[in-house]
Amino acid sequence: MTSLRHDDPIVFTDGDVDTNPSTTTTLGELVDKRYSRRQMMGGMSAMTTAAFGASMLSGCGSDDKDGDVITVADGSTVQTQGGRVVTLTSTASSNATSTSWTQVSGPSLALTTSGTSVSFVAPNVTTPTNVVLAFTATNGGGSSTERSTVVINPATLDFTAVAKNKNDIVTVPSGYTASVIYRCGDPLTSGVAAYANDGTDSNFAQRAGDNHDGMSYFGLAASGTAPDSSNNTRGLLVLNHEYINPGYMHVAGQTGILTGVRTVEAEVIKEIEAHGVSVVEVTRAGNTGAWSYVQASTLNRRVTPNTPVAFSGPVKGDAMLRTVYSKDGTTGRGTINNCANGALPWGDYATCEENWAGYFRRDAGDAAVRTAAGNTKQNVSLSRYGIGEAAKGNHLWSTVTPADATSTVYRRWNATASASLAADGTADFRNEPYTFGWVVEIDPYNPASTPRKRTALGRMAHEGVMPGRVIAGVKPAFYMGDDGRNEYIYKFVSATAWSAADATPSDRLATGDKYLDTGTLYVAKFNADGTGQWLPLVFGQNGLDANNARYPFASQADVLANARLAGDALGATPMDRPEWTAVNPVNGEMYCTLTNNSSRRGVANSSGTRSIDPANPRAYVDTRTDGKNPATGNANGHIVRLREANDSTESLTFTWDVYAFGARSGSDAANVNLSGLDATNDFSSPDGLWFGLPTNAGGQASPLLFVETDDGAYTDVTNCMLLIGMPGRVGDGTTKSVTSSFGGTATTTARVGAAPGAKLKRFLVGPKECEVTGITSTPDGRSIFINIQHPGEDGDYANITSNWPQSQATGTGTGRPRAATVVITKNDGGVVGL
Ligand code: FEO
Ligand code: CA
Ligand code: CA
Ligand code: CA
Repeated sequence: MTSLRHDDPIVFTDGDVDTNPSTTTTLGELVDKRYSRRQMMGGMSAMTTAAFGASMLSGCGSDDKDGDVITVADGSTVQTQGGRVVTLTSTASSNATSTSWTQVSGPSLALTTSGTSVSFVAPNVTTPTNVVLAFTATNGGGSSTERSTVVINPATLDFTAVAKNKNDIVTVPSGYTASVIYRCGDPLTSGVAAYANDGTDSNFAQRAGDNHDGMSYFGLAASGTAPDSSNNTRGLLVLNHEYINPGYMHVAGQTGILTGVRTVEAEVIKEIEAHGVSVVEVTRAGNTGAWSYVQASTLNRRVTPNTPVAFSGPVKGDAMLRTVYSKDGTTGRGTINNCANGALPWGDYATCEENWAGYFRRDAGDAAVRTAAGNTKQNVSLSRYGIGEAAKGNHLWSTVTPADATSTVYRRWNATASASLAADGTADFRNEPYTFGWVVEIDPYNPASTPRKRTALGRMAHEGVMPGRVIAGVKPAFYMGDDGRNEYIYKFVSATAWSAADATPSDRLATGDKYLDTGTLYVAKFNADGTGQWLPLVFGQNGLDANNARYPFASQADVLANARLAGDALGATPMDRPEWTAVNPVNGEMYCTLTNNSSRRGVANSSGTRSIDPANPRAYVDTRTDGKNPATGNANGHIVRLREANDSTESLTFTWDVYAFGARSGSDAANVNLSGLDATNDFSSPDGLWFGLPTNAGGQASPLLFVETDDGAYTDVTNCMLLIGMPGRVGDGTTKSVTSSFGGTATTTARVGAAPGAKLKRFLVGPKECEVTGITSTPDGRSIFINIQHPGEDGDYANITSNWPQSQATGTGTGRPRAATVVITKNDGGVVGL
């Protein structure tokens, strides 16, 4: 309550209601009338609430009987919910010389004042929470203030679910806009020509690569190249280019691919350079304008499979990393098949090498050469990682003859050991497969920096790496999936407790050394009773030593480079293809997508298949409607989640359940559609997974979970999609007895989280034959970025099956499809999804 005394009273008026200066209506009565109207408006729709903006006058006052005092008191309230833009407008009488808005109480807000208006984005809350704002007008004689109360209610998923569809377009709910900003082939320097998209383009080392995947946004200071973790309109997008669509990349396909010998070197150069990572500056035209990428930014960078990298951590310099290129095993070249990612707490990007094994050639006879050289166990290792003998290597890169005879950029993809060359690997590339399968840290702000391969996090088909919550004084954890059928979930716990000052270090890669080079790698075991353990991959413990019959471990480096073999030895739980990991920023629970598993059966029938178990409880046939072969086993995948003991990243035990099981709506509710999905939220093959950031309503109170699909099972009905959920927590559901109907009849007890119901909705459907992947947002959550990977993947240059993104505007277009980054904004400026 504010009072003032002066000769010429300032009278406040409400922006959209005429004031009545006569004495027949008191100010209090006026306010009551306005309040009624506002309540009606506020109840109409989300859009109304967000936009009604004007007039939150709350004063109910009465003229002082002396005529020279005005008293303004707290009064009416207005309702909103977390994530909404709230705009308040008041007016002052013409004799006011200045006005201001200030916050009086409630959760701290970032206020934007414009004239007599103020706006803010409501944070999210667990219970209705009042925010009081004061509007003050002054002149030489004094000032007067009135207060407005805004009640912030807990956020809901207030969008209409997008219907499943097979259109050649990115479909978002009404009230949202999707815009394409960075496409395969787009030039990254000012001197590179626009992409012709007809197979004639070259120089992918200075263009966007193909098949965009994991991605993070790093805010950039408005003035230059320094980090600014709060900038919502200028930043660096760092994204993976997982693999290539060769059928669209050249004028008429890959020359020589059918004869087994690649003959056009330029094609191979292009294919190699189209892999890797992009760092690209993006800017927004003001707070509400369009996003675009900055072609000429000096921060733009491509990391390709040819970029020099350094090894870091326990495997650095180990004999297993010796090659012609690095005789001391300390450096390597590039990164490949980069799938998911992580944004590290100190401002670096982590990219993860997934299906790197497929690029290697290994001729028949290689195993005998290794055995003769005293390296028998390498055959066990190579086989366990999917590099069997007689492998030709994706795209046959090693078969091309370079114009420069001294070049090893193609030869390196041939891992065949030569009997006539040094057994230690320094004369050929027999050890090159050990230079891949790592998490790779990149400093996005320094284009000249050398990426570091973090060997302490183990070697596998790394999908992604998600940091747990960082808390000062607590050792941080990094959660990872190994995407293969029946592979494991891992976490790495730093040896060093988190220091808050490391969120803004001067040397980011050195900070990475601090947290990622020393610590312990663990693998997960899921027990039937809903508990679980993290089993340490430590040389010398629990049989991880030279006495291991299958693979005698020689050192900690050996354990890390053969994490799969170590996990086998420890009895880790084989999972249905662990893809992305995500951590709820409020409670620290970790979610992991298990995308599907064609080798999950009721009863295992041979090596390579697995019986159902409580954590992977389904094996069935997913009947299609188009006559194509149905997916079998765990056909539609699920999302497991775990809660660490004491909610601590350092814990070695946890409890778990399944957040949601993918399924067709209407399918067998007892054994398949265990989460009760309906037409608004049914999905298959979850892959990309991410929680909203705690810097905005999407990551507060009840954080948003973004689920992206990479599906081949439900494609008779729909293209791949993005859903948004608002999950509960581990243990909020029940147990269900589930019986398999594929590969034998067996029964297990599933731990099923509370049915998501309306707290999971389909937000987006992608174009034809795509995967929806990669997700990140600005700190304010008002712009989210996703990637569309491999649109039209079933076609090629002669049979184009998608024209996206050319088709984005109207649903039809011409030309070859291109993977691309898409930015999504809410038309009223609110937090996406709320
Ligand atoms: Fe590249 Fe496991 O998805
Ligand atoms: Ca993936
Ligand atoms: Ca996938
Ligand atoms: Ca894919």
